[in-house]
Amino acid sequence: MPKAMFIRPADAADIEFHLNGKKHKVSDKFPATTTLNDYIRDVAGLSGTKVMCKEAGCGCCAVTVTHALDGEVVETMSINSCVCPLYSVDGWQITTTEGIGNHKGGLHPIQERLVDQNGTQCGYCSPGFVMSMYGLLHQQPKPTMSEIEGSLDGHICRCTGYRSILDAMKSFGVDSPSGKCIDIEDLNKNLCPKTGEPCHGNDGCTSHGVKRGSNDKAAGNDSPKGAAPSALDLDLRESRWYRPLTLKDIGKILQQHKTHSIKMVFGNTASGIFKHQGPFEVYIDLRSVKELHIFKDNKTSIMFGAGTTIGKFRKRLIELGEKPGFHYFPRVVRHLNVLASVLVRNAGSMAGNLMIKHTNPWFPSDLFTMLEAIGAKIDIFDSKTGKTTKHTLMDFLRKVDMKLKVITAIEVPSWTSKDHYRSFKITPRWQNAHAYINAAFKIPVEQRKIVGRPNIVIGGVSGEMVHAVMTEAFLDKKTLTDEVVNGALKIMQDEIQPEVLEVGGSPQYRRQLSVNLLYKTLLEVFQPMKFSLQSGALSMERPLSSGLQTYQQRQDRLPLGQGLPKKTAPLQVTGEAKYTNDLPTFQDELQAAFVGTTIARGKIDKIDTSEAMKIPGVLGFISAEDIPPEGVNNFIPLNNPFFPFKDEVFVSEEVDYAGKPVGIVLAESQALAEQGARAVKITYKDVEKPIMDVREAVQKNLFHEGCHESKERGDVQAALKEAAYVVEGECEMGTQYHFYIENQVALCVPSEDGMDIYSATQASDLVHRTTSQVLGKPMNYCNIFVNRLGGSFGGKFLNSTAVTASAAVAAEVTGRPVRLNVDLAANMKFTSKRWPLLAKYKAGCDRDGKLVAIDINLYIDSGHRPCITIDLMNLIECAYHSVNFRLSLEKCYTNKTFAGPVRGPGQIPGCLIMETILEHLSKEVKQDPVLLREINLQEDGQPTITGRTLKNVTIKKVWNRLKQTANVTSRQGDISRFNKNNLWRKRGLAMTAVRYDMEYFPPGFPSHISIFAGDGTVTVFTGGVEMGQGLYMKVAQAVAYRLKIPVDFVKVRPNQNNVTPNPLFTGGSITSERSVASVLLACDQINERLQPVREKFPDADWKNLIANASAIAIDLSAEATSVHSGAELVPYATYMAGVVETEVDVLTGEFQVKRVDMMADFGESMNPTIDIGQVEGAFVMGLGAYLTEDIFYSKETGQLLNDGTWEYKPPTTKDIPIDWRIHFLPDTPNTSGILSSKAVGEPPIGLAMGALLAIKQGVYSVREDLSGDHTFLPINAPLTVEKAQMASSIQTKYLHVGGTN
Ligand SMILES: Cc1cc2nc3c(=O)[nH]c(=O)nc-3n(C[C@H](O)[C@H](O)[C@H](O)COP(=O)(O)OP(=O)(O)OC[C@H]3O[C@@H](n4cnc5c(N)ncnc54)[C@H](O)[C@@H]3O)c2cc1C
Ligand code: FES
Ligand code: FES
Repeated sequence: MPKAMFIRPADAADIEFHLNGKKHKVSDKFPATTTLNDYIRDVAGLSGTKVMCKEAGCGCCAVTVTHALDGEVVETMSINSCVCPLYSVDGWQITTTEGIGNHKGGLHPIQERLVDQNGTQCGYCSPGFVMSMYGLLHQQPKPTMSEIEGSLDGHICRCTGYRSILDAMKSFGVDSPSGKCIDIEDLNKNLCPKTGEPCHGNDGCTSHGVKRGSNDKAAGNDSPKGAAPSALDLDLRESRWYRPLTLKDIGKILQQHKTHSIKMVFGNTASGIFKHQGPFEVYIDLRSVKELHIFKDNKTSIMFGAGTTIGKFRKRLIELGEKPGFHYFPRVVRHLNVLASVLVRNAGSMAGNLMIKHTNPWFPSDLFTMLEAIGAKIDIFDSKTGKTTKHTLMDFLRKVDMKLKVITAIEVPSWTSKDHYRSFKITPRWQNAHAYINAAFKIPVEQRKIVGRPNIVIGGVSGEMVHAVMTEAFLDKKTLTDEVVNGALKIMQDEIQPEVLEVGGSPQYRRQLSVNLLYKTLLEVFQPMKFSLQSGALSMERPLSSGLQTYQQRQDRLPLGQGLPKKTAPLQVTGEAKYTNDLPTFQDELQAAFVGTTIARGKIDKIDTSEAMKIPGVLGFISAEDIPPEGVNNFIPLNNPFFPFKDEVFVSEEVDYAGKPVGIVLAESQALAEQGARAVKITYKDVEKPIMDVREAVQKNLFHEGCHESKERGDVQAALKEAAYVVEGECEMGTQYHFYIENQVALCVPSEDGMDIYSATQASDLVHRTTSQVLGKPMNYCNIFVNRLGGSFGGKFLNSTAVTASAAVAAEVTGRPVRLNVDLAANMKFTSKRWPLLAKYKAGCDRDGKLVAIDINLYIDSGHRPCITIDLMNLIECAYHSVNFRLSLEKCYTNKTFAGPVRGPGQIPGCLIMETILEHLSKEVKQDPVLLREINLQEDGQPTITGRTLKNVTIKKVWNRLKQTANVTSRQGDISRFNKNNLWRKRGLAMTAVRYDMEYFPPGFPSHISIFAGDGTVTVFTGGVEMGQGLYMKVAQAVAYRLKIPVDFVKVRPNQNNVTPNPLFTGGSITSERSVASVLLACDQINERLQPVREKFPDADWKNLIANASAIAIDLSAEATSVHSGAELVPYATYMAGVVETEVDVLTGEFQVKRVDMMADFGESMNPTIDIGQVEGAFVMGLGAYLTEDIFYSKETGQLLNDGTWEYKPPTTKDIPIDWRIHFLPDTPNTSGILSSKAVGEPPIGLAMGALLAIKQGVYSVREDLSGDHTFLPINAPLTVEKAQMASSIQTKYLHVGGTN
C-alpha cells in the first residue's frame, strides 16, 4: 500500500486504557496483530495473565474488561486476552489477577477460596479461572451454583480434575450451603480506594481508612464510565487501524481502501480458529459502531444489532423469556449455553459467527443453524451504494458477495403457537467443542399433524447442505404415524451425504446422527404412548456436580498428615508465581520458534529462509550446521541405559516424522519468530509414503531391534487347552497429548564463563547432561534452574531436553539470551505422546470365571525410535491374578515422533487390556462382571509377571469396602430396571481395580537444608521438580515434622543443579516420597548435631536452640540423598478400586459419568488434601485418554491434523463425574515406603477405564434390545461419543414412535 495513504491526522492520539487502574498510553509502534495478552505480559510485565493456546481455547489468558462499547452501557466481563487486538482496547479498563489481590496486600476472596479448597496444582490455569469468576460476579453478583458451574466452560485445567476449583467457585453461589456469596465491597477488595490501583499493602498508607464511594471500582480506576468511545485512525506503519463510530464512516473507509487487503474485526475471536491470517493492510474495528448495537422489539419481530455479542444475545433472550410469539427462545438459550465458551461469547459477535459460515460453508455454525431454522433475516450494508438490504440467511450464504459490505442487524420473527422448535448440538465433549452435527427444527404441528412445511436445518454435514429439503417436502402437511415418521427418517437418511473429514465424525456417524436427531424431534412432537421410547425424545441434561472426600488425618505427626493448602498456592492464584516464560526479558534477548518438517519420511533437500529473513525483526536461523563442532546433534543423553538410541536436535538430512525441528528462527519477538518460522520453505527429496499405523507396522514386521520383551509365568498354552472358557480378541488404543497448560519453554543466557539455563523440565539432570553434550562443553559450563512447571505429565521429560538444547545452541552461537517458548501446534507435533497400541489376546477361565491363563501379544506404536516402557510389565496385570500369564511385547516402527511417558504410561494400557479381557470373559461365562473381577483379585504370596512375590495385598479389603460403600449390588439392580424401561437411554456400572507397583531405582533426589541462625527459619532445596503434585508442600511438612518446627518456618526453593546435582527425573509418582526420604536424612543429621544443644538447653525454643547451636559453630546445613537400597525404601504396591456409573443417549452417543466412587489404600497420606487432588486430576486425565482425546495424522504426509484446542479435546469442567466420592482406606499404614505413605499420582488414572466399560454396558443393553445381540463387542479407546453411538447398532429401521408398553 502506498505510504501516502497513511498520513496520520495531526490530532491523532495514541490509544489509552487502564490496566489494573493504571493508565497506559500505547503509541503506534506495535503491529496490528499484537494482542492484549502480548501487551499485558511482554510490555506491561504482568505475567500473572498466562498464555498457552492463543486460540481462545484454554482460558489461561482470561482477563476482566470494563467498557461501554455502544457508548452507553458500561459492562464488565471476562474475555480471552490472547485473541483480543491491542488496538481495540482504547478506553477500556482491564483487570488482571494481579489487580485484585496479592500475597502482601491480601488475596481477593476468589483467590482465597481457590487456595483454601486446594484448587491449584501447577497453578498455571489458576489466574484464568480467577478472572472468569471475577467477571461473572461483576455481571451477576448473586449467581446460583449452577450458573457458576456453567460459566467456567472456557478453561482447561489438566491437573486438578476441576472438582476443587468448582467447589471454591460455587461457594459464591446464592444457594451454596456455605452461604458465602460476596458483596460488592468484598468483590472490589484490595483495590486502593484512592487510586483504584491494586493495594500493595505499603506501610504507612491510610487509604483503606477512606470510605469507598458507591461507584463500582471493578476495574480499579476513576476514569468516567460510559464515555462514548472516540473514533480512531492509527498508522501502524505496516497497516492502518480504524475505529469508526458510524456505519457511514465504515462505508467511507471501505470505499477508500477498496483496493487494499481489509480485515474487519469485532471480537476477533475467529482468529482463534483461523490462525495466522494477515497481516492486512487495513483493519476496521467495528465494536464502537453504534448501529451495530441496536435492539428493537417490533412486536412481530425482534432486531438485534449485528454487533450483539453472543453472550448479550443469550442474555436478551433470557430476559424476553417466553414472550408471546417467541416461545422458542428458551430452547435457543439452551443451545447458546453450549456455543463456544462464556469467554468467547462475551467477545464474539453474531455477525462474526455468521461471517465465518459465509466464508467457510463447512463451518458448523450453531448460530446459523438456529437462525435459519427460526427464519431470521439479515440486514447488509453495501458501502458502494450506501444502502442496507434485507436477506434471508440462505441468500446471504449462497448469493451475497460480502466484499466491502457489513452485516448490520439480524431479525428474528415471531412464530405461531403451533410452531415447535428444537435444536441440538452433538459434540465430542460436553462443552466448548464444535459440533459433529448441529440441527435445528421448526415443525408447525397440531395434534400430531404437521400443518405446514417444516424447517429442517442440519450443520456439519457438508459445505453444501443446509436444509434436508426432501424430508421437509415429505413431512409437509402429513399426519404423523409410525409409517410417516419412519418414512421421513428413511428419506432423510438418503439425502444426508456427509463429506469425509480428516478430523471429526465419520460420514456414517454424521448421517445416522442427523437421522436420529430428527427422530428425537418427531418423538417429542408425537409424544409416544410407549414409555420405553419417551426418554429418547429428551436431550441430556447435566445436574450440578458434587464431591465427597473422606480420609483420616493422623494427629501425632503434625504437620505431617495434615491436609494443608500448598504454601505457593497464594502466589499461583495472584499470578505472582513465576514460571520459566514469566522471567523478565533480558536486554538483547532473542525469541525463537521451531521450524518443523512437513513430511514424515524422506530427506531434506533445501531449507530456504530468504522469505523469513525479509520480515523486519526476524534476525536469524539456527540449524544443524550451527551445532558447535565439539558438540553433538543429539538431545538424548549418551551412555544412559534407559535411552539406548540417539535423536537429532535439528534434522540434518533424514526425516522420520512430520513436525521434527529442522531449526529455529530468531527474532525480536515471539510473534515475529513464529511468523518467520512459517515463512521458511523446506524442500525434500526421496519422499516416501509414511508408515502411520501400528497394524501396518505389525504386518510388515517393522519392529525396533533389540526391543522385544517377553515374560511367561506357568504354561499358558497348556492352561488354555484345559480352560472351560476361552476368549480371543484384540484391543487398540490411540494416543494422548499431555496438554500441560504451560508450553515447553527454555531460556538460555550466556554468562561470563558459561550459560545460565532456565528450563521447564521435569528432568533437570537430563537437561543438564544433554545441553552440555550438544554444546560440547563441560557440565559445569551449564547452570540449570527449574523454577516450577505449569504441568508436565511426562511431557517435559525428554522433550524438554530438545527444547533446551535448541535454545542453548542459539545462545551459544549468538552470544545473546535466547528464549524458546514453543507454541501449542509445534508442541503437539514434536513431543512424544502416549503409546498407541494394539493388543492381541487369548484368555481362559474355569466354570466360575476364575482366570487360568492369559496370553497377550502387545504391539506398541513406538514411533521412529524405541520408546521406554519401564513400568508396563509391572502394571499389565492390574490387581488381578491369572496362574498362567504370558506377555510378549514388540515396539513397532512408525513415522511418528517416538512415543513417550504420559501420566500412567503403563497403567493406561494395562487397565485397557486386562479389563477388556475380563469383560470379554464375563460375557462368555455370562457372569456378573463385578463378581468375575472379585474372584480374580490378587492375594498375598502370588507372583507377578516380573517375578515379585506379592506382599501386604490390600485390594480385597479396598474392594469389599468400596462395594459396600458404593451400594454396588443395589445400584446394579436399579440400572437393570432403568435399562429395561428405556430403549434409548442406557446406564451402566463398572467396578475395577488397580495395582501400582512402586519401584526405586538410582539415582536419588538430593536434598539440601540450611537453617538460618538469626531466626531459625529453614530453606530446603530438593532435586525433585515441583510441577503441581505438591512435592514442595510435602517436603516442607516432613521437614517441619522431623525438626519439630512450624511448617511456616520452612521454605522449599526451586531446583538448581549446583545445589542438588544429579537427581533422578521427576515422575512415576516416586518423587515426593523419595525427596521426603532425602530431606528426612538431612534433618536427621541436623537433629543429631543439635542433640547436645537440646540436652544442654532443654527448655530452649527452636529459635534459641538454633542461636545456641550457631554460637558453638554447629553446622546448620546438611545434605543427603536417600538411596534406593535404603532400609525404608522397600518396593510396595498401591491399591485402588473404583465404581463408575454412566448414562448414554444411544441415539446421539452423548454420555455422562453420573457417579464415581473410589477407595484408595494410600497408607497414611502425608497430605490428604494434596493426594485427593492427585486422585481427581489423574482420574480426569484418564477419562480423556479413554473417552475424548485422540490424535489424527494425515496418512499421506504424516502431519498431525489436530494440533490445537479446536480439534483436540481434553475434559473440561462438565466432563467430570457428576457425583464423585473418594475415600482413603483408614487404618492401613504402609509398612514399606516413606512415613507409612504410598504413591498417589498415577494409580487412579487406570480407574477411568471403568467409564469406558460402563458406557459399553449401556451399548450392550441397546444392542440386546434391538437385535438380541449380547455378544462381546470390541471397541477401541478412546470410546468417543461417535463410537458409543455407532456401537449401539442403531439403524433407521429401528426408529419408531408407535406401540404401547
Ligand atoms: C474457542 C472457540 C470456540 C467456538 N465454538 C463455537 C461453537 O461451538 N459454535 C459456533 O457456532 N461458533 C463457535 N465459535 C465461533 C464464534 O462464535 C465466533 O468466533 C464469533 O462469534 C466471531 O465473532 P467475532 O465478533 O469475534 O468475529 P471476528 O473474529 O471479529 O470476525 C470474524 C469474521 O467476521 C467478519 N465480521 C465481523 N463482523 C462483521 C460485520 N458486522 N459485517 C461483516 N463482517 C463482519 C470479520 O471481518 C471476520 O472475517 C467458536 C470460536 C472459538 C474461538
Ligand atoms: S491462551 Fe488464550 S485461551 Fe488459551
Ligand atoms: S492447576 Fe490447572 S493446569 Fe495445573
